Amino acid sequence: MPHTQGEVRFEFVASNILHPLEKLVAVRHHGNEFFLLYVQKEAKGLLKSDKLTRPSPNYVIKEALNAYAKAADLEVLASNVDEAPKNVHLEENSALRHIGDFIQDFPAHPRIWIEVGFGSGRHLLHQAKNNPDVLIIGLEIHKTSIEQVLKQITIMNLSNIQVLDYDARLFLELIPSNRIERIFVHFPVPWDKKPHRRVISDAFVAEAERALVVGGTLELRTDSDLYFAYALETLTALQKVSFEVHKNRDLSISSKYEDRWKRMHKNTYDVTMHNQIHSPQRSEQYRFELPIERKSDDEVIALSGTIHRFDEGFVHFERIYRVDGGGVLLRLAMGSFDRPEHLYALLTPTQTRYVPALPIPSRANYRAHLLLGALLHG
Ligand SMILES: C[S@@+](CC[C@H](N)C(=O)[O-])C[C@H]1O[C@@H](n2cnc3c(N)ncnc32)[C@H](O)[C@@H]1O
Repeated sequence: MPHTQGEVRFEFVASNILHPLEKLVAVRHHGNEFFLLYVQKEAKGLLKSDKLTRPSPNYVIKEALNAYAKAADLEVLASNVDEAPKNVHLEENSALRHIGDFIQDFPAHPRIWIEVGFGSGRHLLHQAKNNPDVLIIGLEIHKTSIEQVLKQITIMNLSNIQVLDYDARLFLELIPSNRIERIFVHFPVPWDKKPHRRVISDAFVAEAERALVVGGTLELRTDSDLYFAYALETLTALQKVSFEVHKNRDLSISSKYEDRWKRMHKNTYDVTMHNQIHSPQRSEQYRFELPIERKSDDEVIALSGTIHRFDEGFVHFERIYRVDGGGVLLRLAMGSFDRPEHLYALLTPTQTRYVPALPIPSRANYRAHLLLGALLHG
């Protein structure tokens, strides 16, 4: 290491301090930075992608897995990774964006809509096709749905969709104030037993209000009585708000979920909030640089497993890896209690930085970052 196999670059290997047979292999491929996870068990090993840094589309990972097996001269006993050429739709597709694109430069398009959790993408594609002068940002966390929708975007030759593999609850904080015309949240997962995981929350509605232009709308569509009641309660808690409610309203397009509910004769509720507030721009500028001067590797390793709290958030040193060649790699959960970031921090003699990307510039993340810096500095 470092080593290049075809188009894939392997940077370093790091071993879990508690389970040295579990290793992360750092990869750079097609502009993505991610890890492969290698777990050794007796004479056999399992090589797979690391969940936290897993890039999209899938072929990027497949190529890296195959390249590593070749470079390390592994004898493949069983594999579910095919050698098939990458999907041409994905390769040609420029609709797939990274969160970093939005942090550096939010799209300047004059008319922007957002769809949260587009699933099969029927509504997203329909709206894009029928509103060519609008840019629609589609947010989804389910990779297979993203890949299927990217294929459709290519087939339908749509150039006004940007797809992002990112949690909508975090994304809203990044939007400049008064920029979005419509935010669709259609059939969100109800999470009746874990309400804190719902997309709609006090914080989400407040951020939506800030991001919407005056007259812009937040449009929830749900088949869940509980979610409907919860949304009404959340909206009514706002200081000043105006919203309308419809029951069993037909839209020009019906999603996959909706078709299923209709067959089951379930009710559908629409709650549309109309924003009336012109919000000030955010003034905070957060910088996420980790300290170059820091504790020794062994002192950092002593933090393994510890959790450090402050009033609105925390830093959890979930796992620590020793980097071959010197340094440590920290697997962290940090930020607000509700919406923590899961990411790595790489601390070697030559680099100190977050991997695969900086935490998103929210207040809670910045406070967690400052706490992390203090813990590493001693
Ligand atoms: C029940 S499905 C509905 C899909 C689609 N809107 C429809 O009507 O058919 C909910 C979708 O929201 C996505 N999702 C859940 N939480 C999310 C989040 N925080 N950010 C973005 N997407 C999310 C899920 O992956 C899932 O595809």
